[in-house]
Amino acid sequence: MAPPRIFITGGTGYVGGTVLHSLVTRHPEYSITALLRNVPESFAELYPNVRIVHGDYDSADVISDAVSKVDIVIHNGNSDHEPSLNAIIKGLVSKKETSFLIHLSGTGVLSDWRDTKYHGKLNPKIWSDIDDIDEIWSRPDGELHRNTEKILQTANQQHGDKLKIAVMSPPDIYGRGRGPGRRRSAYFPFFWKDIMTVGAPFYAEDGTNTRSFVHIDDLMELYLKVVEAAAAGGEGADWGKEGYYFAATQEASQIDIAKATARVLEARGAIQQDEPVCLPKEQVAGFVPYAGLSIGTYLYMSNSRVRTDRARKPFGYQGKRPTLWETLDTEIADALED
Ligand SMILES: NC(=O)c1ccc[n+]([C@@H]2O[C@H](COP(=O)([O-])OP(=O)(O)OC[C@H]3O[C@@H](n4cnc5c(N)ncnc54)[C@H](OP(=O)(O)O)[C@@H]3O)[C@@H](O)[C@H]2O)c1
Repeated sequence: MAPPRIFITGGTGYVGGTVLHSLVTRHPEYSITALLRNVPESFAELYPNVRIVHGDYDSADVISDAVSKVDIVIHNGNSDHEPSLNAIIKGLVSKKETSFLIHLSGTGVLSDWRDTKYHGKLNPKIWSDIDDIDEIWSRPDGELHRNTEKILQTANQQHGDKLKIAVMSPPDIYGRGRGPGRRRSAYFPFFWKDIMTVGAPFYAEDGTNTRSFVHIDDLMELYLKVVEAAAAGGEGADWGKEGYYFAATQEASQIDIAKATARVLEARGAIQQDEPVCLPKEQVAGFVPYAGLSIGTYLYMSNSRVRTDRARKPFGYQGKRPTLWETLDTEIADALED
């Protein structure tokens, strides 16, 4: 069988860059093309066999044309960007042959951040990517990533016979990335920035709100399995409505994260106290303002708890990398460096 032709986006980002690096390293036989708007200086040296298409996510014609020449698209970088996703689908369905689309979304779509009842408190709901699949595909408008998941849902209904879609829905990711650009995740760099304002790690209410986590290298094992299944014609993985993959391996409450972070920061001499502080909800909600959304509420006061059921059976997926607690010191050291 000829090696698969792959088109990847977000190859300079934390997730997309690590996917690119993992594919090149594990599957040098794959024929890979990357969409890049900024080409890192080291790119050609690091990845001499990866072809580059110059463009950004709004270069609809460039994207549609490029994906019409490949078998598999791995779309990372901005899980909410509609024009790029529409351009990818348009290009893929223009082909006669079956195509595969592996789209990065995230468990933010299941977060209870808009429900004030659970701000700073434990929500008992744990989502399964098998048992709750109907509910997952029925999330209300306005939830994070729902706009693009709706586009994928329509594509599944209209083109499911020739376009096989997998949604990768990781929770918060930790661990160092391996790509040619950004290698840091989101949670700890944001948390450190807000800790500097407050003077200590923090939580709201009783801080029992809980989120799932995954190490970037565990997530990559799942990506590789799904890409390998696509390369084998789809065999061995779920696609379409059932092709929805959580990747979580553990969970942590905000108060436990704040306590552990305080100990690490105090030991590093970065703060004066080794205990976190409880802040009013209104103050936490004001952190990380972004496009009119209160990302502070989402990051520090919400729950998004998931159970990774789908990947377990076919792929034997489980967390094998160091836990969040084992990695925390490095994670925080990296955030301090930025
Ligand atoms: N990190 C997490 O914990 C996590 C967990 C679940 C879901 N997610 C979701 O995954 C997505 C990616 O996260 P990330 O942490 O990998 O982000 P990131 O490190 O900021 O990477 C973004 C990537 O997308 C590219 N990009 C962004 N906008 C573009 C545009 N308009 N045109 C061309 N390229 C563009 C960037 O290219 P440049 O280098 O040129 O800027 C970069 O390669 C986000 O939507 C996030 O919500 C993240």
